[in-house]
Amino acid sequence: MSKSTTTVMRHGERQQVTLTLNGRERSGYCETRELLSDFLRHELGATGTHVGCEHGVCGACTVHVDGIAARSCLMLAVQTDGRRVDTVEGLAPAQTLGDLQQAFARHHALQCGFCTAGILMSCADYLQRVPNPTEEEVREMLSGHICRCTGYTPIVAAVLDAAARRRQPCGNTEAEHA
Ligand code: FES
Ligand code: FES
Repeated sequence: MSKSTTTVMRHGERQQVTLTLNGRERSGYCETRELLSDFLRHELGATGTHVGCEHGVCGACTVHVDGIAARSCLMLAVQTDGRRVDTVEGLAPAQTLGDLQQAFARHHALQCGFCTAGILMSCADYLQRVPNPTEEEVREMLSGHICRCTGYTPIVAAVLDAAARRRQPCGNTEAEHA
């Protein structure tokens, strides 16, 4: 009879997680139970990702995991070992705002900004999949986020504006997209 081997983690024991964060390989240590949001902020210093509700409701912690928008408060950091994670810091790698961020600035689509990083990450993923959304569709997408300041209308306008500019023949190039 073969014996199964089980790795037992002791309380407080930390393990190494290596991922590609905004195009750069990064490593850190965390307990198995540590949330990705906390790992990004406290271990890797990527504090652009905000934490609000910590149970998947507000959307503030949204990042991309392997290119898909995901709530980082609903994932364990260890689940991202070997994977690609992108955060709001990656939207402006050369300190130049991406087209989506510029649209948010033009339309005053943020006030305190607490919700903004997560909304930008959702919008960036969404516009890759839905390049020509209607206002209703944008509002539906934004229903996964809570913003206590703007009333959402300027955010909707910014997303529609960014989408329209991307569809123009002389619009921003793919590399400029947020
Ligand atoms: S902090 Fe993750 S959804 Fe609110
Ligand atoms: S800008 Fe303040 S919560 Fe959205």
